[in-house]
Formats: sequence, C-alpha cells, structure tokens
Amino acid sequence: MVKMSVEQLAQLAVQARRRAYAPYSGFLVGAALLARSGQVYMGANIENAAFSPTNCAERTAFFTAVSQGERGFDAIAVAGWGEGEGGFAHPCGVCCQVMMEFCEPESFQIIVTDGAAIRTMLLKELLPFGFGPENLSG
Ligand code: THU
Repeated sequence: MVKMSVEQLAQLAVQARRRAYAPYSGFLVGAALLARSGQVYMGANIENAAFSPTNCAERTAFFTAVSQGERGFDAIAVAGWGEGEGGFAHPCGVCCQVMMEFCEPESFQIIVTDGAAIRTMLLKELLPFGFGPENLSG
C-alpha cells in the first residue's frame, strides 16, 4: 500500500472506534477505509433498540464512501475489541459481501487491530468463494 501505511490506517480505525454507538452490546468497533482516490472514510458501528437495523463499522465506512461517489478501494482497517480480554474483530459475512461488490478479492487488504497488534489478510482469504458482480455478467 503506497498511499498510507498499514499502521496509519489501523490508527485511524482506533480513532473511529471512539464514535461507536453500541449501547446494547457494548462492543465498540471503528473502521478506516482507504479509497483508490487516496481519501480515507471512517465508520463506526451504530446499534438500534430494534437490534436488526444495527450497522457494522465496516458498512458504515463503505456506505459513506460510496454515497460520496467512491467506487474502488484498496484497504480497510477494523478496530474492535471487547472489555478486558482483548481480541480482534474480523469483518462479518454481511460486511464481506459488501466488500465483494466494490473490491478486488485478490488485492483488497483487510487490517484488523486490537489496539496494539495488527494482522493483515486479503478479502479472498475471508471469503474464498465470494459471490460478486462478475458472477452476474459471466
Ligand atoms: N460489529 C462491527 O461493527 N464489525 C465487526 O466486524 C463485528 C461486529 C458490531 C455489530 C454490533 O454492533 C457489535 O459489533 C456486536 O456484534
């Protein structure tokens, strides 16, 4: 990644986590999404009293970016950990499916951090047989 380092993007996700609205689970998640344009879009999880309208941090970042006109992305950093025991939050299946719509599975980088350590992986590793727009045009 040339536009921004993995560490910088992870740090932005940690900052975005502070804006999470998670009164029901208490599980705060932040995301920082690097668009091909070089612009970074932040997102946080937004929960709801009816539970199912809850939006993950990753999708908040994606929908913000796409609604601003972005259509291509290089990487996303996700910062999510519970009280006490730490651990990493990897993107859920729904968020991976949203990534499939706009990202190259072979090159889109997913960075997860617990606020200290960082791990990186590719979308194709999280969703090896993902269904995307190309399936409909083939
Ligand atoms: N959550 C995220 O925002 N991203 C993830 O990668 C995993 C889960 C949120 C959804 C919900 O608000 C809370 O974490 C507990 O599942």
